[in-house]
Amino acid sequence: MEKKDYHFSYDIYGSSDELSDADAELLEIARGVTTSAYAPYSQFRVGASARLVDGTIITGTNQENASFPVGICAERTLLSVAATLHPGVAIDTLAVSYDNENGASDRPISPCGICRQTILEYELRTGRKIRLLMGGKEGVVFAVKEASMLLPLAFTSEEMK
Ligand code: THU
Repeated sequence: MEKKDYHFSYDIYGSSDELSDADAELLEIARGVTTSAYAPYSQFRVGASARLVDGTIITGTNQENASFPVGICAERTLLSVAATLHPGVAIDTLAVSYDNENGASDRPISPCGICRQTILEYELRTGRKIRLLMGGKEGVVFAVKEASMLLPLAFTSEEMK
């Protein structure tokens, strides 16, 4: 029997004031774009923003549906925008924030499992790791150097070879 350890670490910033100017700007854009979310069922508006390696900034928001499983998260909306409007341009940093109408919005939001899998695929197809900033309207901000670190032992196309 062999034992393997998985080491995961992330940075915790006391608030967006502690971020670099570029990161603070990106998170602020994610916060602002929550107004474009369509979340009449959850009242949980999520905004995602990304800085591409060429400096372009793009955004995405969650888009819900009366048939609940049809809805799409902000992160995957953003990745669809990236792939469609900026094909082949890798993402440097992705930021996520939210506005929860029914509660506080001061804890970092963390991508759901489907989004983690989708982000991982985007890293693989562009050949570049994606930095991830997770925040809320206010409060502490988490930063992960490589988003795929959130998905250990992930399923990838390698498994189908
Ligand atoms: N949601 C996102 O857009 N991103 C996340 O990281 C977590 C959840 C959305 C899905 C749904 O529209 C609402 O938030 C409540 O789950």
